[in-house]
Amino acid sequence: MQAVIRPALPGDATAIASVGRESFTWAFGHLYEEGTLARYLEATYATAKIASSLEKPANTYFVAELDGRVRGFLKLKEACPHPSVTGPGTPWQTQKLYVDPSLLRAGLGRRLMDAGEAWMRTRGAGSTWLVVYEGNDSAIRFYETLGFRQVGVEFHDFERLRVAFKLMEKRL
Ligand SMILES: CC(C)(COP(=O)(O)OP(=O)(O)OC[C@H]1O[C@@H](n2cnc3c(N)ncnc32)[C@H](O)[C@@H]1OP(=O)(O)O)[C@@H](O)C(=O)NCCC(=O)NCCS
Repeated sequence: MQAVIRPALPGDATAIASVGRESFTWAFGHLYEEGTLARYLEATYATAKIASSLEKPANTYFVAELDGRVRGFLKLKEACPHPSVTGPGTPWQTQKLYVDPSLLRAGLGRRLMDAGEAWMRTRGAGSTWLVVYEGNDSAIRFYETLGFRQVGVEFHDFERLRVAFKLMEKRL
């Protein structure tokens, strides 16, 4: 069955949190000690946190639904400048993109990004940017395939862990 890509609804919070936890653990779990990972997931993917994030006017979420179940999501942040992103107009941030690990390479990520880019374009965004862990080869290849290019490097900390990220931009 073909996945449906649609804007998220308030009732999607639990499913988005669940996909986020599973996909994050699949992609990045090996970087964290067990306790640190649990605290990160609780801080970032508690259902109440996602529910509140869904309500913020600057955030836009899309979900990929398959057989009535949310299996991937995209989060965009409106008008979010970054000093190293020089594209025309005010860029938007592509803040989160997660697909259920059992459904990778099935086109959900591309379809979520297509929907998100169309949304940003019609709202006047000239470009979008994101950060991706520098060891996340599959996501980097995915973003390059979609036309993102690296424009910088930055470091993010969580507790004692410092991680290097590629900063990537795409003109819309
Ligand atoms: C990155 C991610 C969202 C991509 O989603 P996806 O649904 O698997 O990607 P798609 O099937 O839409 O791939 C589209 C194209 O991107 C490229 N691509 C995707 N994954 C790739 C990989 N592992 N290696 C090389 N190219 C890849 C391919 O060109 C692919 O087209 P093809 O399958 O016809 O060859 C997914 O891998 C994911 O959720 N990863 C874990 C979480 C994560 O890292 N999120 C990003 C954080 S910044």
